[in-house]
Amino acid sequence: SETLKIGVAGLGTVGVGTLQLIEKHYELIAQRCGRPVLVTAVSARDRRKDRGLDLSAVRWFEDATAMAADPDIDVVIELIGGADGPAKEIVEAALSNGKHVITANKAMIAHHGTELAQRAEQAGVALACEAAVCGGIPIIKTLREGLAGNAINGIYGILNGTSNFILSSMRDTGREFGEVLAEAQKLGYAEADPGFDIDGVDAAHKLAILTALAYNCEVDFDGVHVEGIRDVTSLDIAFADELGYRIKLLGIARLTNGGVEQRVHPCMVRKDAPIANVEGVYNAVVADGDFVGSLLTEGEGAGAGPTASAVVADLIDIARGVRLPTFAVPASVLDRRPSRAMAEH
Ligand code: NDP
Ligand code: HSE
Repeated sequence: SETLKIGVAGLGTVGVGTLQLIEKHYELIAQRCGRPVLVTAVSARDRRKDRGLDLSAVRWFEDATAMAADPDIDVVIELIGGADGPAKEIVEAALSNGKHVITANKAMIAHHGTELAQRAEQAGVALACEAAVCGGIPIIKTLREGLAGNAINGIYGILNGTSNFILSSMRDTGREFGEVLAEAQKLGYAEADPGFDIDGVDAAHKLAILTALAYNCEVDFDGVHVEGIRDVTSLDIAFADELGYRIKLLGIARLTNGGVEQRVHPCMVRKDAPIANVEGVYNAVVADGDFVGSLLTEGEGAGAGPTASAVVADLIDIARGVRLPTFAVPASVLDRRPSRAMAEH
C-alpha cells in the first residue's frame, strides 16, 4: 500500500542514527506497518559535510521550513534542537501544512509542548516525542499507554545520560569532570550547550514532560526546582561511596498535599537501591502507580542508536495509523498549570 514519505530536518547524531536505522530495517518496518516508510527529503546546514550516508536518492532542502511545507512529504522529523528558532518554525510549518511531526526536542516540548500539541490536534495530525525523554527508554509510551489505568503517586529517575556518565566515570576512573564531559560530547551524548546537561536543565525539561504525562497537566518547566552536578567533586563522590551511597542526578515529581512537586538535583542514593547501580549513559525511571505498584525501566538515555530507536517507534505508530495524543490526554482538556508545591530538601 501507499508509501509513507518522510522529511528529516537535522542530520547530526540523532538524524544520522535515524536514517541508518530506517535504511537497515526498511523491510522490517514495512512488514510491521503494512506499508513502506521512506526518507525522501532531508535538510541540514552544511550540504558538503560527509555524514557517512548515501543521500543521492533524497531531495536536499537548504530551507527546512520549505521542506515542512512540501506537498510530497507526509511526516516531518525535527532533529535540530533548541526551544525556539528554526526547530519551532519547522514544526509549526509542518503542523499548519497538515503533516505529522516527530521530534526529539525536549527543550521545545518543555517550553511549547502544550501549545504545539493543541495545534496538532486542531490539524488532525500527530505530534510525537518519545525520543525527547530518556533516549531509548519508551517511558512516554509506558506512562501514556501501559500505565494509563493508574493514578501516579510519584515518578523519579536518572534523566540525563551525560551527567550520569560523568558521575560514573569520575567514581570509576578518578578522572576529572572536564575531561569526562569532553568525552561525553565526543560520543554525541551532550546537548549543543553542555551547560544544559551539567546544570540540570535538560533533566528538568524531561521531568516537566513526564509530569504532564503523569498528572494530566500542562507542561510546567518554570515550576521545576533545578540544580545540576557542576559543583560535585571527586571527593564528594568518594565520601558518599565510603558512607554506602552513590551520588545521582535525579528528577523527581510527586503529588503532595500542596500540589505537584517537581525537582532536579544531585541525591545520595543507597548503594543497594537498583537505581544506584544504573551507570554510564544509562537512564532509569521509577514510576509508582496505584494499581501496578512500582515499575523500573532502564536503558541507554542518549546517543545515536537508542534515540533513533525511539524516533522510529513514533514513526511506526504513525505509519500504522495509530495517533495518540502527545500527552496522556488531549491537549484541549489538559488541566491548567499543576498547582505547585515548594521543594524541600
Ligand atoms: P546535533 O548538533 O548533532 O545535530 C543538529 C543538526 O541540526 C545538525 O545536522 C545541523 O546541521 C542541523 N541544523 C542546525 N540548524 C539547522 C537548520 N536551520 N535547518 C536544518 N538543519 C539544521 O544534535 P543531536 O543530533 O545531538 O540532537 C538533535 C535533537 O535531538 C536535539 O533536540 C537534542 O536535544 C535531541 N536529543 C539528542 C540526543 C543525543 O543523544 N544526542 C538524545 C535525545 C534527544 P549541520 O550538521 O549541517 O551543522
Ligand atoms: N544530552 C542528553 C543526555 C541527550 O545526556 O541525556 C539525551 O536526551
